[in-house]
Amino acid sequence: MTASVSAPVGFRFAGVGAALPEKVINNVDLTAAMDTTDEWIRERTGIGARHVGSSTSELSIAAAREALDRSGLQPADIGQVILATTSPDYICPGTAPAVAYALGLDCGAFDLQAACSGWVYGLVVANGLMLQGLDNILVIGAESLDRITDYTARDTGILFGNGAGAAIVQQDPTGNGRVLGWDLGANGAHVGILYSEHGGFLQMDGKEVFRQAVTVMQRSTNAALAMAGLTVDDIDLVIPHQANVRIVDAAWKKLGFSQEKTVMILERTGNTSAASIPLALADALHEGRLEPGHNVLFLGFGAGMTWASMIVRWEGTLTGTAAW
Ligand code: UT7
Repeated sequence: MTASVSAPVGFRFAGVGAALPEKVINNVDLTAAMDTTDEWIRERTGIGARHVGSSTSELSIAAAREALDRSGLQPADIGQVILATTSPDYICPGTAPAVAYALGLDCGAFDLQAACSGWVYGLVVANGLMLQGLDNILVIGAESLDRITDYTARDTGILFGNGAGAAIVQQDPTGNGRVLGWDLGANGAHVGILYSEHGGFLQMDGKEVFRQAVTVMQRSTNAALAMAGLTVDDIDLVIPHQANVRIVDAAWKKLGFSQEKTVMILERTGNTSAASIPLALADALHEGRLEPGHNVLFLGFGAGMTWASMIVRWEGTLTGTAAW
């Protein structure tokens, strides 16, 4: 698709899709492979089950197809694909071109690696591309973390699962839907607290990730709020990265967000990294929690460390997806 640089107005979601593999490993299943209990995992993380199987491209295609169907757009309308993932099908090439090909798209397509912050990074990049005249940008967050997770390891094996969420974002000529504020950040001093080598499994200093996550969630939220000229009370719904309910609780205590305004799907999915926020968005739509005029905060953090937030004034009346 060719863009012409023009003055765009607004930002809204045209369609959202989600995909989870059928196979589920619940906490009791894990007790066969490691010294743990359902009670411990629930109490320390809030996780009850995680999905495994399928590939990042397959999950991406399923979620994106649903987003496309629900948007009413045609493949030729899509101006760009951004695929946020930390578990691509191949080290080279990126997974996005194969996904675009399978969907019959004729546009640019690239992978974005910012770990669990990737999908929100993707939204910010999409907004920037709209300023260059592109429209109808498919932003996917997809993971097959079972490829890099050791399900016998007590620290990481309890946390991670597979899934994908996809959204098509577009210009909103009414100007009702808008990006009000955003923040992107990274601190490579913390590479060593969460990483996976080529061909290896995720290695993690869980306590340090926990501590850093709580800090950067506050920092990024405050930066996005400042750009938007809003306060915590002005936010109607928060969709945070789904890593550990205790991380969210600890950050919320400092920030002052309420649980009622927070979308949590962690119990059903575990940590799906770049997929977790779009999957939670799909769930919020399913539950009818988004209304035109709502101020919605997307808040991601993850390996790198990276962090990302975006505050959007919601426009549109989308509904939930088949995954929920
Ligand atoms: O997208 C970001 C991804 N990463 C994260 O979100 C990780 C953030 N960190 C965490 O979620 C937590 O640090 C964990 C859930 C990984 C671990 O929880 P914790 O509260 O930090 O546990 P701990 O490592 O301090 O261990 C506490 C106790 C220890 O026993 P003792 O020494 O007190 O007797 C551990 O041996 O719990 C034990 N333990 C377990 N017990 C049952 C550690 N892991 C397990 C387990 N099952 N899976």
